[in-house]
Amino acid sequence: MTSTTPTDWWRSAVIYQIYIRSFADGNGDGVGDITGIRSRLPYLAALGVDAIWITPWYTSPLADGGYDVADFRAIAPEFGTLAEAEQMIAEAHEHGLRVILDIVPNHTSDQHEWFKEALASEPGSPARARYWFRPGHGPDGAFPPNDWRSVFGGPAWTRLLDDEGVPEEWYLHLFAPEQPDLNWSNPEVRQEFEDILRFWFDRGIDGFRIDVAHGLDKHAALPDIGLDEEELLAEPDIPDHPHWDRDGVHDIYRDWRRIADSYAGTPEGARLFVAEAWVRTETNRLARYLRPDELHTAFNFDFLKCGWNAEEFRRSIDHSLQTLGEENAPATWVLSNHDVIRHVTRYGRAAGQEHKGAGSVPTDLVPGVLRARAAALLMLALPGGAYIYQGDELGLPEVENLPVEALQDPIWERSGHQSRGRDGCRVPLPWSADEPALGFGTGTPWLPQPSGWKDLSVEAQTGDQFSMLELYREALSLRRSVPGLGDGSLTWRDDSPEGVLAFDRGTNFRCVVNLSRRVVPLPAKADVLLASAPVLDGQLFVGAAAWLRLR
Ligand code: GLC
Ligand code: CA
Repeated sequence: MTSTTPTDWWRSAVIYQIYIRSFADGNGDGVGDITGIRSRLPYLAALGVDAIWITPWYTSPLADGGYDVADFRAIAPEFGTLAEAEQMIAEAHEHGLRVILDIVPNHTSDQHEWFKEALASEPGSPARARYWFRPGHGPDGAFPPNDWRSVFGGPAWTRLLDDEGVPEEWYLHLFAPEQPDLNWSNPEVRQEFEDILRFWFDRGIDGFRIDVAHGLDKHAALPDIGLDEEELLAEPDIPDHPHWDRDGVHDIYRDWRRIADSYAGTPEGARLFVAEAWVRTETNRLARYLRPDELHTAFNFDFLKCGWNAEEFRRSIDHSLQTLGEENAPATWVLSNHDVIRHVTRYGRAAGQEHKGAGSVPTDLVPGVLRARAAALLMLALPGGAYIYQGDELGLPEVENLPVEALQDPIWERSGHQSRGRDGCRVPLPWSADEPALGFGTGTPWLPQPSGWKDLSVEAQTGDQFSMLELYREALSLRRSVPGLGDGSLTWRDDSPEGVLAFDRGTNFRCVVNLSRRVVPLPAKADVLLASAPVLDGQLFVGAAAWLRLR
């Protein structure tokens, strides 16, 4: 196992996110799988990460890339078998890598046994009470029960037709219609998920990432939100929201924490939770998930949302460290994931446009790559843990021009083709330059890879000291050897020029990031441990970062 103590490994951990469909394809059908992951465990161990988080691999019709789960205790045949999953968990552990799975408690697939049973049952039946079924409004119930919107576009309600094609009740889905929302006020739902946690903990996994952790509790009366279109864009930011970040979610996580802690005596130790919770910005709402008897960590989306701007980063870092610190919880830093525009692309866009949809605004990848290199050094030097999304370490940009026939994200259809959705950050990884599908696998990848990606492949970057991959390798290796990195605190150097972030960790480590428009001198009494761009005459370039050992 890893070198950190079993109870606190997650306070400093660097966790690598595997989007399984796009990581490595072991059987040549064009879709990533467990065999593919197993074959690349040595790569991940050598990269220097502490853990992997695997996006849902359960049986699923893949209406939302696996976030529509039909059976939480079985592996999708596209991805492998339960026996292979168990073997992968064991092999990862042998490589010193912890394993985190993704649990999706807010909804099931419409192909889940429970939902099928609900459809076959009468309105008002116990089978329907596991979800949110309601009669519609207006004459003939032709209007949805309330005004809630699906995150993917359109109403959050779909109306059922009975066997004769006569319309009957509506059901709630905050995401795609293939993802009906579960009713967490139902004790059966709670019991089922506690059993699922144990099912996987018993198979040796080290923790769970909780999908849509802020969505489980709904206002029992399902009231209208009552916002106009403009306001709806900022919807999660309204206080006392009827379905986001309600106080009731915390009871659920207190129960889950007791289960995770009950594994303290096992070889893997107590298990970990990380929350995917999108909560109101500039509040302490995120910290509430990390109270001592709740979850351990949460993704820091506030940091991910920052533009390339020193003040924004500084505000976000201070806010996180302060609010989470009040609960004695470590921060975790994240730049990209399978839901957002890749940060190489974001940082190559004009201020304010970073998060616009793929293909909708101009991007210049030259500053994008430069800044992404610096951002990696910033993130990995900050106190706490960090997440790397597969391909971050290769500097992959968002693929903004996927052919529309290839798009699979439900957002594309649900938005009436207004938004291309998230496929551009989910393109299969390039492993080598000359093999079919750039080494991803022998079949045609489920999303086409840009041909230019052969220069970004693992093979092409390995040994090239100026490559993104070697920068990550070196940074991750230093992170393990330099005292003071990982968990702990930082001290800002407030004597640094405007637009420059500089902070100290431990006794003699300093990180300097130049977000200004001028070259800045590094302190004279310091050795450069690592820099994102060459340091000439002691000067740090615009858009560059350096790790220093102070003499
Ligand atoms: C989370 C996942 C996202 C998914 C959604 C619905 O936000 O990260 O990919 O579409 O939940 O499950
Ligand atoms: Ca495959």
